[in-house]
Amino acid sequence: MPTTFTKVAKTGDLQDGQKKLVRVGFEQIVIARVDGEFYAFEEFCAHAGGSLSGGTLQGHEIVCPLHGARYDIRSGKQRIGPASSDQLTYQVRVEGDDVLVGPANEVAGGGMAVAHE
Ligand code: FES
Repeated sequence: MPTTFTKVAKTGDLQDGQKKLVRVGFEQIVIARVDGEFYAFEEFCAHAGGSLSGGTLQGHEIVCPLHGARYDIRSGKQRIGPASSDQLTYQVRVEGDDVLVGPANEVAGGGMAVAHE
């Protein structure tokens, strides 16, 4: 899990409504751009490990391609099942035209979502 901020992309790499799979160390993380803001979340769905980079981005929601779970990419909160937990999200910074991903965000209600190895 990232403990510092790592450059993963240029702002121009993504247009609004696009997403991209990146690697930070051993982590696979999806970055997405919505309304000019960048977001980052774990690649593997909290339900059964579906690849969210292959899912559909609808506004601020990512839809898992395997069983249709929907997560808000701003908070990681699950909007529609079948997952039993929220999705891990990461802090994002934009410095100049660089997009950097940092440590995971805390999950609402305390604790952290569990990262899949
Ligand atoms: S693996 Fe994502 S909804 Fe089942």
